[in-house]
Amino acid sequence: MVANRRNFIFRVSIVINVIVLFYTALHLSGTYPSPQIEWVQITSDGSEKSAELRDTREYTIVRNDTESRTVDSGVKIVEELTSQITPSTMPSTNKTTSSTASIADVDSKALEAQSTNESLDENAYTLDENVISETTYSRLRSLLACKDRYFLPEQLQRGEYWVLKNYIRAEHGELECHETITYTTHAGYEFLDNVLPLVERWLAPVSLAIHAPGTDLAPTVDSIRYLRDCLSTDVIKQYVTFHIFIPNKHIPENIPDPSKFLATSYNCTLSPPYMNVNVSDTYMKQKKILYPVNVARNIARDAALTHFILPSDIELYPSPNLVPKFLNMIARNASPLNKSTNPRVFPISLFEVAANVQVPSTKTELQAMLEKKIAIPFHKFVCQTCHNLPQGQQWMKAPETSQMDVFHIGKREGKYVHWEPIFIGTHQDPHYDDRLSWEGKKDKMTQGYILCVKNYDFMILNNAFLIHKPGIKHYKKDTRREYLASKQTFFVKNVIMPELRKLFGTKTGCAL
Ligand SMILES: *[C@@H]1O[C@H](CO)[C@@H](O)[C@H](O)[C@H]1NC(C)=O
Ligand SMILES: *[C@@H]1O[C@H](CO)[C@@H](O)[C@H](O)[C@H]1NC(C)=O
Ligand SMILES: *[C@@H]1O[C@H](CO)[C@@H](O)[C@H](O)[C@H]1NC(C)=O
Ligand SMILES: *[C@@H]1O[C@H](CO)[C@@H](O)[C@H](O)[C@H]1NC(C)=O
Ligand SMILES: *[C@@H]1O[C@H](CO)[C@@H](O)[C@H](O)[C@H]1NC(C)=O
Ligand SMILES: *[C@@H]1O[C@H](CO)[C@@H](O)[C@H](O)[C@H]1NC(C)=O
Repeated sequence: MVANRRNFIFRVSIVINVIVLFYTALHLSGTYPSPQIEWVQITSDGSEKSAELRDTREYTIVRNDTESRTVDSGVKIVEELTSQITPSTMPSTNKTTSSTASIADVDSKALEAQSTNESLDENAYTLDENVISETTYSRLRSLLACKDRYFLPEQLQRGEYWVLKNYIRAEHGELECHETITYTTHAGYEFLDNVLPLVERWLAPVSLAIHAPGTDLAPTVDSIRYLRDCLSTDVIKQYVTFHIFIPNKHIPENIPDPSKFLATSYNCTLSPPYMNVNVSDTYMKQKKILYPVNVARNIARDAALTHFILPSDIELYPSPNLVPKFLNMIARNASPLNKSTNPRVFPISLFEVAANVQVPSTKTELQAMLEKKIAIPFHKFVCQTCHNLPQGQQWMKAPETSQMDVFHIGKREGKYVHWEPIFIGTHQDPHYDDRLSWEGKKDKMTQGYILCVKNYDFMILNNAFLIHKPGIKHYKKDTRREYLASKQTFFVKNVIMPELRKLFGTKTGCAL
């Protein structure tokens, strides 16, 4: 992305030069120049993002139409071209299902019409799947037809919570919704040791919602400052946006103002505030507050700036290069992506590794570890049926391939009726039920039910995986949690389920 921005600045300077030439030519010749430069306006999504310019040889995209109007006698050309080109660059947003389902509907001819001849070379895609080319960006823009979103700090309410949305923003700044994927996640401050290993592998935006009731806010703020200022890399500053949310009844006396404390660097000789926390000393545990896991998930997700999101657990570290590989796959739009018209999500295989080992970077490494039994399928010893993937055994045996593809299309039915997949989806997918707590368990089942009723395809990705922070989990009995779980199960069955049946209907084979 950094390279991309450099590119962008370079392009802007070229375009400015071209505008000057264009202007001079107009005044010297007194006639319209041959339309080497075409202006395509893409502001109709209501975005207020700044001017963005692309590929000056063939076409240029201008966000701000007052800017294009300053090229006075060129105005007529600008407007004519805009009216011709706009329909093909903006596929209909008349969508009834998940927005990714509409990809197949986009007329590939329209895509060709607006691309350069050379960019249609299919080989361009197979060159380097870890890089996103301009061609891929332009395909994504057309295929996804998504809306850019605001990136401003806000203090808003969500049920019983105050949300400090975009409390501390990543330095990547505003994003175009098609350009990358956001990892959306949540935590209490005692989990923030996971941020670095997560971001180092993801290298793309992360939207992180932190639950910080009462006096937990102070160490939360210190932890964020430590992460941004005291590590040997600036990837956290670059990519992570922090949101804070606080229960109404537990608002701290003092809410630090980021514009003030970010002006000075944190004292890095102090130890990381998120390390060695005795959890029973946290305000949350002292006040017996349950962890509102779904409120947290929904806040992180709603704040994501991109079309594609990966709502996940902060302790799950993604396989490297997942973002460019995935976006190249979407841009290729090969079978089965271009066939199915069902709404879709893209589940990722989950694994645990032993406490003392290096997290694998490739599927091949992972397979070697599975062989040696130092890696195992996720929650094998806690709740195997929750996370078992359809064709999971075949997935583990299948060799790594050079590009990302759909391995298998699963359904949340039959043996997988209680499946809790973690997947790349979009803002169109159903939310999580805000009323459910982490302690009460089954917190994602209601979303799973809705996905099943809406006949979602679960397009399992071939090479991508998530690895839990090293250390294999075993089932531990926790009587308080068992009690809370039985209460929540009752609530889900007797209160939420009847609501879902009314709102979404029923479908044979779907269950919570
Ligand atoms: C468009 O550009 C003009 C001139 O640079 C500027 O005054 C105006 O605020 C811009 N409008 C938007 C919506 O960015
Ligand atoms: C949008 O959907 C409606 C109802 O299905 C249909 O009648 C209409 O033609 C669609 N519009 C476009 C632009 O596809
Ligand atoms: C692009 O295609 C057009 C028509 O198919 C052709 O006339 C033109 O020479 C091509 N341009 C390049 C750069 O290949
Ligand atoms: C930073 O913290 C250390 C350890 O508490 C302390 O000795 C030092 O004076 C502090 N430095 C600043 C600039 O506050
Ligand atoms: C954590 O704190 C509680 C009480 O505050 C104490 O009983 C417990 O021993 C502490 N645990 C550890 C590992 O220090
Ligand atoms: C889907 O993509 C495949 C492979 O690229 C292609 O052979 C097929 O014709 C495409 N199908 C449709 C319906 O576009």
